Amino acid sequence: MRQLIAGNWKMHGLGAEAAALALLIKAGSIRAGAAGLACELLVCPPFTQISNVAALLAGTAVGVGGQDCHATAQGAHTGDIGAPMLRDAGAGWVILGHSERRQNHRETDALVHAKVLAAVAAGLIPIVCVGETEAERVSGQQNDVVGGQLAGSLPDGFAGVVAYEPVWAIGTGKTATEDDVAAMHGFIRQTLRRLLGDVGGTMRILYGGSVRPANAVSLLAVAEVGGALIGGASLKAEDFLAIARGARAA
Ligand code: PGA
Repeated sequence: MRQLIAGNWKMHGLGAEAAALALLIKAGSIRAGAAGLACELLVCPPFTQISNVAALLAGTAVGVGGQDCHATAQGAHTGDIGAPMLRDAGAGWVILGHSERRQNHRETDALVHAKVLAAVAAGLIPIVCVGETEAERVSGQQNDVVGGQLAGSLPDGFAGVVAYEPVWAIGTGKTATEDDVAAMHGFIRQTLRRLLGDVGGTMRILYGGSVRPANAVSLLAVAEVGGALIGGASLKAEDFLAIARGARAA
């Protein structure tokens, strides 16, 4: 399976900026595609820009995703967005359980689990984020925390993507070492096999947390790293595409 390079634009992008970024990524992916870009590309703009960005990227190999969805398809939930709405706006993917959602919106594993079911029912591919805080890593609890998040967030038959994003590495400029990434991705692979059987043996496990062009090649070369989830560096087309060029084929 090709590596997946996914950009999480977070709460960035008014119309003109989002369109300019999408068009630069489109142009770069077409040029790189001709030269054989090894990975799959995905951008996850804020809700308000999904349909514009999806229209600009229609017919290209760059996918579009949301950054969250509600656990139910529709209803009296002021300010929320249902998975069928994302699909209708042109998204094919959705990030769920990002640590900024878990922390700022008190999302629990049970809620993420319900959101995954809603996303799949709407035909979206979920990217489920897990990761420990700095205090949890310092006290050696990272495997328990991540193992618990996987068991609690992934429904039976889950066939999406998992993203390991250590909370202390997100937006901080600190990246996990290659050894830490190898150990955690190995542990996640083992847990996915146990929870999901064969499908858990092949599902992509992304690394996220301060991925930059300068560290992408070495992180993407680590065993069991199936791609990257990129925040800050995904807002510059040049950096996002440079990271994508660092992806490997297998
Ligand atoms: P960052 O964010 O690349 O800015 O660290 C990653 C993420 O939150 O997905």
